[in-house]
Amino acid sequence: MVADGKGKRAKSRSRSRSWSQGKCPDWATSEKKEATRGAPRVQAPEDLPVSAYKENIINLLLENRIIVAVGETGSGKTTQIPQYLLDSEKFQALFENKRGLRIAITQPRRVAAVAMARRVSDERGTRLGDIVGYCIRFEDQSSATTRLRYMTDGCLLRECLGDPDLANYDVVILDEAHERSMHTDVLFALMKRAVQNRSGQLRMLVTSATLDTGAFSQYFDCPVLEVPGRSFAVDLHYHPVSKTQRVEAAVNVALNLHVREGPGHILVFLTGMEECEQAVNFANAKLQSMLDSGKEVSDCLIVPLYGMMQSDDQRNVFEEVPEGCRKLVFSTNIAETSLTVAGVGFVVDCGYCKQKFFNPKTGMESLQVTEVSQVQAKQRAGRAGRTQHGKCFRLYSEETFHRSLPKVTVPEILRSNLASVSLQMKAMGIDDVVNFDFMEPPDRVRLVKSLRLLYLIGALDADGSLTDLGRRISQLPLEPQYGRVLLAAADLQCVSEALTLVSMLSSEGIWYRPSRQNAEQWEEAQAMQERFVHPLGDHLTLVRIYTMWEDDGCSPSWCKENFLHFRALRQARDIRGQLCEQLEKVSEASIRQAVQGKRDRERDRGRSRDRSRDRDRHRQRDHDRGSNRTSKSGTDAEQALLQSLCAGFYMQTARACGAAGGWLIVGENVLVKCESSSAMDGSPAEWVLYTDLVGSTVANCMMRTVSAVDHTWLSPLLPKLTEVDMKRIVGLSKPTQAQAQAEAPKDAAQTVQEREDKVGSAR
Ligand code: CDP
Ligand code: MG
Repeated sequence: MVADGKGKRAKSRSRSRSWSQGKCPDWATSEKKEATRGAPRVQAPEDLPVSAYKENIINLLLENRIIVAVGETGSGKTTQIPQYLLDSEKFQALFENKRGLRIAITQPRRVAAVAMARRVSDERGTRLGDIVGYCIRFEDQSSATTRLRYMTDGCLLRECLGDPDLANYDVVILDEAHERSMHTDVLFALMKRAVQNRSGQLRMLVTSATLDTGAFSQYFDCPVLEVPGRSFAVDLHYHPVSKTQRVEAAVNVALNLHVREGPGHILVFLTGMEECEQAVNFANAKLQSMLDSGKEVSDCLIVPLYGMMQSDDQRNVFEEVPEGCRKLVFSTNIAETSLTVAGVGFVVDCGYCKQKFFNPKTGMESLQVTEVSQVQAKQRAGRAGRTQHGKCFRLYSEETFHRSLPKVTVPEILRSNLASVSLQMKAMGIDDVVNFDFMEPPDRVRLVKSLRLLYLIGALDADGSLTDLGRRISQLPLEPQYGRVLLAAADLQCVSEALTLVSMLSSEGIWYRPSRQNAEQWEEAQAMQERFVHPLGDHLTLVRIYTMWEDDGCSPSWCKENFLHFRALRQARDIRGQLCEQLEKVSEASIRQAVQGKRDRERDRGRSRDRSRDRDRHRQRDHDRGSNRTSKSGTDAEQALLQSLCAGFYMQTARACGAAGGWLIVGENVLVKCESSSAMDGSPAEWVLYTDLVGSTVANCMMRTVSAVDHTWLSPLLPKLTEVDMKRIVGLSKPTQAQAQAEAPKDAAQTVQEREDKVGSAR
């Protein structure tokens, strides 16, 4: 059996629902309903380390409002502890509510929230969305009867917007605290406050795999419970390979293990979705050629595992395989601690992961492939020793491990863009973001920069107070800059295009890239993909692709023909629908009407066109449409979309710098080029706008996702860049009312005087 993760996939009827401000309205009015348990579809392993601590955990949480529990990955923290609390009468009696105990369990990753909810509802024999549900951005699978609600930390943070005391819950479990995701870090402080306000009616449990318990218990001033784990020895093997060959090397090592070694699944750590998909393709091809050459190879199920995966596809990873069949999982760092693939005996660690980094020089955030920390490397190796004596193959040297890898991972909040967090905090009424009670405060300069960005997009006024625009942006589940773009698009009558663009950017990796070894296919893919390129840049290219796909009836075959990932487009469509609803709620314009009107027009246009299903003509049409649109200035809607982008990203524009053959970023003395994959690479455009910047140093910064923009759109906006009074925004120089009154006339007089001086000197 050779499968690629797309094989036996049960169609799930996902009841996607939107939620505004994170509130689930059903919850507030529901009657208490006994948690009914059906026949379990799976059993929790019998001897999980946490099971011996069940009573301890319940008692500790009865006696304390906050506790920290530490236990190794796989010990049962995420799946069992919430159930212990839910099933404990003693614990239930603590709460004076009639609606039954409600527990929120946060996860830094979407995949984990979904997988855990699914697993626990299987263990309880209930339907997903009943007693056990989940809530992730763009998807809510919970109902009035839900008692255990697995959710991303981002979702809970959003919920805090509408309800700072989290009255919907009795217990909040902040899981995977060691990951120190930005949202969890902010939740630490907010939860501390909520627990205080709810006088004993809200309990909090912080759980973590490996952590500096000292820092946690000091910050929360609470007891720490340690659950000792059981694990087997893992032999370490070092196989240094060059960074660029890590995918192939990892596949080779893994297949070698498959051929030579006894039982135990193989878990390979790579950096991202693209690498995992690529590795699955390589591995399948290699295995096939081994079989073709008459080698005897036992059964192997080859599957990828990464954050942006569709929920259905994740099932393959966790499902049991028949006796004698081995699982080969190519995963991102998601399988380090948040997800447990049972029965792993071998780990291959490429030594890298993708991390968000904030570049203080350019003020921009980018996703970079970086070396893992020693802690991460140990976690990865540990995955091999949960059920048997394991082996771990590191694709780097022992010296690299000791000399080059950083000891610990830097928490996200210390390395990423704080604009979104700052905005949400402002919307929650936390005015003094810079002096917030962070467990580990981010760099002050970066916090200040985030406030500056919020001011530049109009989310804050000159005094650092949230504007009406800012409030509306904060209600959209997007980075503030993209929220600003959508709202601008609503005003500029191109909201349909903007929704498409933002959805396409939110859905990762639409381009299918065959292996370079298969030169013919690689070239064909290049040629097919090039046909979509829009002369005005990558953003319109994305919109064009989506529109053509939709015109074609959203078919998988169209994607295949054009070397595009169907799943990515399907995901973009889902996101688009959700965003449309959310935007409708916060925008003054009627979004749905605008989008619907646009669709009707498109449909009419489509009807009048010959819609023959003949494949060749189809291709021809695609081609024609592609070339029709190559007019240099774009259609009105396209122009409007680019103008809307300027509203959110005018501080990320750059002007051609003829002599140096690149562009100079506005307001910064940084010269940048486009990535070679960008539609704007080599373009003579005078002004360009970018939504991503990649690279670790100023010298190798590259723009990714770039468009040509018109200077007339920028000129009213750019002066704001130099007008910012940071002291005022941060709140350091807020004048008192008396001062303001006293100063006002003087200011006016001064300005008149200055103007006269200038006029005088000009004469
Ligand atoms: O949260 P923690 O890492 O401590 O463990 P868990 O996620 O609660 O998982 C406890 C155990 O349940 C694991 O050791 C696995 O044996 C099993 N499990 C599983 O087989 N499949 C899942 N999808 C989740 C858990
Ligand atoms: Mg866990």
